[in-house]
Amino acid sequence: MSEEKIKELPGVGPATAEKLMDSGYKDLMAIAVESPRVLSDLADIGESTAGKIVQAAKDAADIGGFETGSELLEKRKDVGMLSTGADSFDDLLGGGIETGSITEFFGEFGSGKTQIAHQILVNAIRPEEDGGLGAEAMIIDTENSFRPGRISEIAEARDLDPEETLDDIHVGRAFNTHHQMLLADEALDLGKDKPIRLLVVDSLTSHFRAEYVGRGALAERQQTLNKHLHKLLNFADRNNAAIVVTNQVTANPDQFFGDATKPIGGHILGHTATFRVYLRKSKGDKRIARLVDSPNMPEGEAVFRVEESGITE
Ligand code: GTP
Ligand code: MG
Repeated sequence: MSEEKIKELPGVGPATAEKLMDSGYKDLMAIAVESPRVLSDLADIGESTAGKIVQAAKDAADIGGFETGSELLEKRKDVGMLSTGADSFDDLLGGGIETGSITEFFGEFGSGKTQIAHQILVNAIRPEEDGGLGAEAMIIDTENSFRPGRISEIAEARDLDPEETLDDIHVGRAFNTHHQMLLADEALDLGKDKPIRLLVVDSLTSHFRAEYVGRGALAERQQTLNKHLHKLLNFADRNNAAIVVTNQVTANPDQFFGDATKPIGGHILGHTATFRVYLRKSKGDKRIARLVDSPNMPEGEAVFRVEESGITE
């Protein structure tokens, strides 16, 4: 039905309607609130056409104005909370990793990003009352660091059946940025058939960094990354899913962003990720998580461990 409405927009033929649907715009509202530039990027249409489509969608859609705080509070009840596996870590995040948002874990090598990824893939499958999302999970693996054996180990440690757990985890190995973008599209497709409520991208930025080298490539890199992030947000919206992305910080100052303590990805990622968590190594298997950006929680730190059994207190 919403597809019919999109087709009825002036200037939208069947082909454009299909492009819009494929790019994740499932109803008028989604188009009405998009910026013409992003719409043009994602649906591969000219920017002026995109501008007209957005305007037409605004006219046609019943864009609500303000809502009361109580109405918003009611909506917030749909937000799921995914446990990291460690209580203090969950507390730091205000109860866990939220669905409907992007959470970014950044830190140097060995800081625990990939281990957290494995842990939450397992946790997501558990019922909501056990800190899960009661659904299936998905990972776009760009560094070939996903290990089914590690999933089994973590599952067993939580008394879950390793094989059943692995059956509910969908893994896409991305060979380059182009492939990574395609996998995000595939994720949207698979999300239509399967209840997937966690999508991890480990690592979000490694291919981007390797492929877009030099100052001249910076604008294009950021534009492509932006497009990718919008697809991920789209997935979050459609499936009420948590999006978790990992990102490295460099010991060597990044040639584009200059600062050794800042995650790569620049402003685009900074503004799109709702929660940003900086991870660093401590003694032995101890790790420290620092919440550096969140809409509702104070900055703070939590200590957790990476053990045989996974992420623990
Ligand atoms: P990069 O991807 O290189 O940026 O690092 P990362 O942040 O993803 O690090 P990762 O999550 O891979 O953390 C690696 C650390 O986790 C290792 O240094 C180990 O200490 C620990 N680790 C990994 N696997 C196991 C395991 O099976 N048992 C235990 N006890 N620790 C593990
Ligand atoms: Mg890793």
